[in-house]
Amino acid sequence: MAVATSIFRNVLDRRHSLPVRHAPGRVRRICPLRPSAPRSKTSSWAEQSVGLQNGHWSHRVGEPASDPLVTRTPHCGHSASDSTCHLLVSSSDLEVKIPTVNGIVSIDGMVVPAGEARVSVFDRGFLYGDSVYEVVRTYDLALFELGLHLARLASSAERIALSLPWTADRFDREVRRVVEASREADAPDPAAAPWNLGECSVRIVVTRGSGELGLDPGLAVEPTVVLIAVPLRGPPLAAYREGVAAWPFGGPGAPRRGGDPAAKTGEHLFHVLAVREARAHGAQEALLLDGAGSVTEGASSNVFAVRGGALETPPLGVGILAGVTRAVVLDIAGRLGIPVRERPLPLAGLESADEAFLTSTVREVLPVVRVGDRPIGPAAPGPVTRRIHAAFREAAGGGHKPGKAPASV
Ligand SMILES: Cc1ncc(COP(=O)(O)O)c(C=O)c1O
Repeated sequence: MAVATSIFRNVLDRRHSLPVRHAPGRVRRICPLRPSAPRSKTSSWAEQSVGLQNGHWSHRVGEPASDPLVTRTPHCGHSASDSTCHLLVSSSDLEVKIPTVNGIVSIDGMVVPAGEARVSVFDRGFLYGDSVYEVVRTYDLALFELGLHLARLASSAERIALSLPWTADRFDREVRRVVEASREADAPDPAAAPWNLGECSVRIVVTRGSGELGLDPGLAVEPTVVLIAVPLRGPPLAAYREGVAAWPFGGPGAPRRGGDPAAKTGEHLFHVLAVREARAHGAQEALLLDGAGSVTEGASSNVFAVRGGALETPPLGVGILAGVTRAVVLDIAGRLGIPVRERPLPLAGLESADEAFLTSTVREVLPVVRVGDRPIGPAAPGPVTRRIHAAFREAAGGGHKPGKAPASV
């Protein structure tokens, strides 16, 4: 690496290009496409460094025809004396498949409408899920527990050895800025829970950044920070009144989830497939089972059972995300005098519970009335769940406008 550092000079134009490694003294021509033929196994790393310059691949010209990089660049057929590559289109002509989303995005501190937000295809978040993230939400457009979310972002980043490019203060300021800029809410949804109307959620994503292709994290030069503020879409009011179904996923003999469950990272395929299966069975959330068949957490939530008036929930030690809402609920239970038992939760134990609920930033406290094909208790939201949710609504009401009572179920 020390040799590479002495040979190459890293250049980074954060707005339009990727890191470029220049070999001093080489004459280069800009060309948008990579050589199509495989590289010689014997060529050195210096010879292989067909880098990116101002967003274009470059290759050397004016060098002996035997130069492997010159002889193996027939991709666009332009001659050495013609500097125009006719396969190039302007980036403004590119039709990027971006869904119509009402929102505001900040990329490395530059705020743009959601439909205009772009990051590089060489970003490791896109290529490898090499990123950490958080989801925060507002109540009356005031951010709820932003400090706890930023602390967890820092912890997740540390767990994957990613250096956050901003201080917590800067994250705090920039998140507030996108919330401020995203005042344009969706048209009111008559089915929405009232506490979600006009609110927004902000996804904070930090990727290890862009670089040449390869798993080596050292190829990334500088992290990318993306903040996505969109109108909040929580479960509809009916889901709180009637409860939802959850579907178990994984368990003994099934493929295991990858990565560190305590870090909130972009590695999501296991969770995506879990939710796919849950949706295929008409369930709102997937419950992730460990190798012993115990429920650890939801695909994007923590799980609680209620038995004999006490809460049961898996401890952090079984390998789950330390949910911010979970922590608020544990605090509420303590204040209400509701006993809590943090211990492994076998699937059969959840199925035989009196009540069950999920917690997450966007769901708050959501009653679960069916797990797999089995009803939980009388298949209706239970009194302990309702009590805890009502207390949560009060706690979240801290951000409510003066004189406005927190909305309840
Ligand atoms: C795997 C997982 N567990 C639990 C949660 C709930 O965490 P929080 O309450 O902080 O939103 C999430 C949230 O997305 C999650 O992804």
